[in-house]
Amino acid sequence: MEHSNEDYKDESKNIVELFKNLDKLPHNLIEALRRIQSKYGYLPPHAIKIAAKYVGVSYSQAYSVATFYHQYSLEPVGKYRILLCMGTACHLRGNDLNYEFLRTMLSIKKGKKTTEDGLFSVEVARCFGCCGLAPVVVIENPDGTRKIIGKANARVLRAVILKIKRSEGKR
Ligand code: FES
Repeated sequence: MEHSNEDYKDESKNIVELFKNLDKLPHNLIEALRRIQSKYGYLPPHAIKIAAKYVGVSYSQAYSVATFYHQYSLEPVGKYRILLCMGTACHLRGNDLNYEFLRTMLSIKKGKKTTEDGLFSVEVARCFGCCGLAPVVVIENPDGTRKIIGKANARVLRAVILKIKRSEGKR
């Protein structure tokens, strides 16, 4: 879809409006990014630029912050967000294999984390604080609820994915 300059101006205005009541100070970058993420579901590059300019930091600084925190996403996330803990316990107990399994099962392209139909994204996360259940996988559902899968393995994950697909009318 083609965008005119006017579309971009409107869009930029909408983004700046998200920063209402936020002082133009560098330490407000995280809050500015949080507001963008909560409105769009991810951080579009032009929105990161606008946030950086607003709080007075460089684009590269804002980009580093955006990539550091797992709650931020640089691409649209799936309707179901699958988060795999890569803390020490989960990593050692096989979440790296679970990660590869899910990416392959869902045919996620290299360099991407979301399926082409937008139904799932597979992401790496930090420790969830329930290491006794390692390896842990969390599924964030579209209604905001979370399903925690402890002692996750390919068999269990496959069953969960197939169940979600069926509930969405997909094979
Ligand atoms: S290391 Fe995975 S939950 Fe703590």
